[in-house]
Amino acid sequence: MHSEYTIKDPSRIFSPGLLFFKTLIARNIQGMIKRVGSPARLRPHVKTHKTREIVRMERDAGITKQKCATIAEAEMLAQCEVPDIMLSYPMVGPNCDRFAELIKKYPGSAFSTIADHAVGIKQLADALAKANVRAEVLLDIDVGQHRTGIAAGSAARQLYESLARLPGIVPGGLHVYDGHNHQHPLEERQAAVKQMLEPVMQMRDDLTKAGVPVPRMVFGGTPTFPVFATMDIAGAECSPGTCVLNDFNYGNWFQDLSEFTPAALLLTRVISRPTPNRVTFDLGYKAVASDPPAGKRCTFLNVRDAVAVLHNEEHLVVETPDAERYQPGDVAYAMPSHVCPTSALHKFAYVIENGQVVDQWHIASRDRVLTI
Ligand SMILES: Cc1ncc(COP(=O)(O)O)c(C=O)c1O
Repeated sequence: MHSEYTIKDPSRIFSPGLLFFKTLIARNIQGMIKRVGSPARLRPHVKTHKTREIVRMERDAGITKQKCATIAEAEMLAQCEVPDIMLSYPMVGPNCDRFAELIKKYPGSAFSTIADHAVGIKQLADALAKANVRAEVLLDIDVGQHRTGIAAGSAARQLYESLARLPGIVPGGLHVYDGHNHQHPLEERQAAVKQMLEPVMQMRDDLTKAGVPVPRMVFGGTPTFPVFATMDIAGAECSPGTCVLNDFNYGNWFQDLSEFTPAALLLTRVISRPTPNRVTFDLGYKAVASDPPAGKRCTFLNVRDAVAVLHNEEHLVVETPDAERYQPGDVAYAMPSHVCPTSALHKFAYVIENGQVVDQWHIASRDRVLTI
């Protein structure tokens, strides 16, 4: 166990409980800045923690731009007075009106969003025009994940050019997220980034030559932002999310990112010992993210050779050669495999510093709606 994880007296911590280790979060924020050279080149994604206090820590470290995926996250960022907020999610239907309302309600923040289709863009332009507000829209480029976006090329170029002709919309550049680039060896990630960037840079150059401004390009997540950071691209911003808290999977997969330490754990207690070799913890999949495969959703730090054999909503049953040593009420610590959806399962996190609980931070934008 990392020495930071030692908690002197866990008896008042409810289980299952989410723990945030403040010193490690601060270190991860500095690590992120170091990788890109300056906070001005960073636009961290708030979805990992959804927490006002971490946004403020980032602000204190000089970070003024944030990325988010939901209206609630955007509103939380605005309430934290973040100057530049990018809602990197296509606005459709009533969310277009909500986006316009955000712009009206929080004039101290500049909001932007992304789009990839003429129909969605029209819905957004109508909502912005109706509210009499303007926002930057970045064209979302599909660089291989095939989740959202449009491939770089002539259709994408035309769509980008069309943005300038719509009321309320200001062309804001290109959004280039490569969430599929999870190659474990760094050299493979570097090669993949280089290859996928070629058509994007070609399109950017074509637009610029034609006099269409591309003010910024927003790149990557944790696995590839250090690769983009080494490139000299005008208007480039890097948008890692996970590394602020980091987790077991990223720590395990990306050895080149070893400066990022998992800064969130789960405290769980034994609730039962149903058979001689089994121990049951109060760590169901309503407390730890279940998008990793069953059996691989968390790693126990202080239960020897624990093998998860059954995972229900509120129960995690493990087999361990030490099962007989455990009593109901015993405390164990587990590292989530995927921290972002894990933090969203908790109303608040216990904040740990120097082995003590020093605060509780509300996971404020886990709610879908704050006020808008
Ligand atoms: C659009 C977008 N940008 C940035 C990120 C951050 O990526 P990571 O969590 O790998 O740091 C994500 C993650 O889901 C994302 O969807």
